[in-house]
Amino acid sequence: MKTMLNVALPKGRLGEKVYAMFERAGFECPSIKEQNRKLIFENPEAGVRYFWVKPSDVAIYVEHGAADIGVAGKDILLEYEPDVYELYDLDIGKCRMAVAAKRDFRYNPKKTLRVATKFSNITKNYYASQGRDIDIIHLNGSIEIAPILGLSDVIVDIVETGTTLKENDLEVFETIVPISARLIANKASFKFKSEAIERIMAGLEAEKK
Ligand code: PRP
Repeated sequence: MKTMLNVALPKGRLGEKVYAMFERAGFECPSIKEQNRKLIFENPEAGVRYFWVKPSDVAIYVEHGAADIGVAGKDILLEYEPDVYELYDLDIGKCRMAVAAKRDFRYNPKKTLRVATKFSNITKNYYASQGRDIDIIHLNGSIEIAPILGLSDVIVDIVETGTTLKENDLEVFETIVPISARLIANKASFKFKSEAIERIMAGLEAEKK
């Protein structure tokens, strides 16, 4: 019997793109396209089993070995620093992590900067590298509201098209890091299922050309 490769896919638009790439790389699983609420799909002939998981949870499944490989945003990898191998940049899901504020915001070096974010670790590391003192206000979503209501001076968040910032009268002040989707692997799986993992990587690489 073929070795089964367990793959954690991020639920949503990005995950659908990723699945299409895997399909073209030879790891197809037609049942995944059926409209239902199932979360696990497998195709023993192709040696693959897919799970749809919350994008921010992909790295958890992979780190613990519940999935052999998965696709996670660089933002998640930088924020949670999971103990996994980062194998490959898929060059999709591109955006950037940025500092944004109201247009009239001016940085005052005498005051501790208040930063609202969902990405506390990235924020802490970024300002530490700049030698700037900050207070972090950890939020779970709708971060853009914080500077409008005076909860924070700036935000650290993902900017893709820039529409959300624009519609809330905010603008980017600094770019912290570019983000894209990465193929990650469990460390033991990378050793014991190397053939299948390498086949996927070769298929993904061929796609880019
Ligand atoms: C992200 C981010 C911004 C938005 C940026 O939110 O937090 O709100 O996308 O995209 P734009 O530059 O194209 O407008 P997401 O939709 O991922 O969900 P969230 O509210 O849970 O952060």
